Amino acid sequence: MYTPLYLALLTAILHYTLTLAISSYRTYSKRAALKREHNCSAPTTENPWDILGLIKIYTSTKHLLNETALTNISDLFTRYGDTYASRILTQRVYFTCDPRNIRHVLINRFADFDASDVRAHLFAPITPRGIFALDGDGWKGARSLYADIFSATRKIFDVGLQEDAFSAFVKLVPRGQAVDLQPLFLKLILDVNSSFAMGVSPDTLRPDVQSKEKKELAESLMYAKRIMARDGFLGPLHYFLSRKEFYTACQNVRGFVEDVVRKEIASREHEKRSTPKKEDDDDDDDRSQSLLQRILDNTNDIDGVRDAVVTILIAGTDSVASMLSTTFFLLARHERVYNRLRQEILDTVGTEPPTYETIRKVTYLRHVFNEAMRVYPPVPFNARTANTDTYLPSGGRADGSSGVLIRKGERVIFSSWGSHRSSRSFGDDALEFRPERWEGLKSEALGYIPFSGGPRVCLGQQYALLEASYATIRIIQTFARVENRDVRPWTEKIGLNLSNKNGVLVEMVPA
Ligand code: HEM
Repeated sequence: MYTPLYLALLTAILHYTLTLAISSYRTYSKRAALKREHNCSAPTTENPWDILGLIKIYTSTKHLLNETALTNISDLFTRYGDTYASRILTQRVYFTCDPRNIRHVLINRFADFDASDVRAHLFAPITPRGIFALDGDGWKGARSLYADIFSATRKIFDVGLQEDAFSAFVKLVPRGQAVDLQPLFLKLILDVNSSFAMGVSPDTLRPDVQSKEKKELAESLMYAKRIMARDGFLGPLHYFLSRKEFYTACQNVRGFVEDVVRKEIASREHEKRSTPKKEDDDDDDDRSQSLLQRILDNTNDIDGVRDAVVTILIAGTDSVASMLSTTFFLLARHERVYNRLRQEILDTVGTEPPTYETIRKVTYLRHVFNEAMRVYPPVPFNARTANTDTYLPSGGRADGSSGVLIRKGERVIFSSWGSHRSSRSFGDDALEFRPERWEGLKSEALGYIPFSGGPRVCLGQQYALLEASYATIRIIQTFARVENRDVRPWTEKIGLNLSNKNGVLVEMVPA
């Protein structure tokens, strides 16, 4: 009576085992072919006996807490080579600072790697439909919301807005005493970017007029970013910590921005009803349009627009503030560079506020920014996860001369901190701040990736440089010297972006 049941069960087990065996064999043969085709060998492995990756977690956490994570990254590349394998818990991870591998992941084999796997859980609570939480078609859709807007920098760069923020900023810089510029830069950029993104400034530079709602927005945003950075480093361990306050902060930010979106839609509908729009109205007041208004010209999808705006508040604030802080940290320690930059600004722009055109003439400023982001990249490392079996072109074998097979689901962590400091790419003085090296230097093949590269290159790159240039030019026009007032060394503080734990303590000497 049971025989047919046993037979059916046996057949099912046999069928399952066979299917598994065939599929494993196919995967094995495909991987073997890929290995042959790209001449892949095993790379050097960090602590091969650490099969559960527990030692790796312990040492990484220890270095993070001791504020030596970046020195540790440099040491590991020196010890194991520009590409090596490691293990974090059960996942195999490859670390690389080899420019060939970085280009490969970001550009040549872009489609083989996903970005959201490592960070969707960080961004989803604050921007579930934002670009950082997505890959594939979702990412394409999110990117298309901004694409035309960011490619027209002349249209979107509002010098009036930059000047207003600079005026508020400069009032907070005391004369004749030391000041930490780092928190001031954060406020400056938060105010400017919020005005740019949604037409509303949280007034962090003007606490006397700041409303309760705006204060809550600024605090919630800062808090949310801090927790996102913390959880990014903790990985799965973050599940042991409460995220209640984080969710509340995300809700505050989303709620604030959503209100602005809804008000703008309502005002458009009201305007449409009362004064029908003429065909040639399109360019009216073009420069003062916020990003939100520009996006709303193409879609009325409230959630999508809200997340697109919040994304900019996250992506565009700490990063630019980090670049400005680093620049002034270095300028305060390199008087020659400050003097040369000041002279070039006075020669090309004079003492008047710069325009879109004059900003771009200060070539040396671009070299200073390039060099500041080379030495202290705002995004010192980044990661991708293979969505298919693929490979890296170099790093295999002890001498790194052959390719490396990357299996679906394995992770590649690439480090601009490593590639930007490589003496192979930047010479024996790679650790020095020397903006002149950028005269005639072509960075494409050198693994210089402050803004990443390939299809997912930073959308706000040009905007960020204009914004930082405006602030820098105005500051340098106003102050003849920046004097270092800190004896402590630069010490890493790794948040969503890199900064100096000790800030930028200087004295600004008026012209
Ligand atoms: C110095 C300042 C900045 C630096 C160093 C920087 C760096 C980066 C990097 C490295 C990425 C790539 C992330 C990845 O692929 O994993 C990125 C992406 C992005 N950045 Fe920036 N960024 C800066 C400023 C800005 C600004 C001002 C904005 C907007 C106003 C912005 C908007 C974006 C957006 C929307 C993306 C996502 C692109 C995508 O995934 O397709 N960034 N940025």
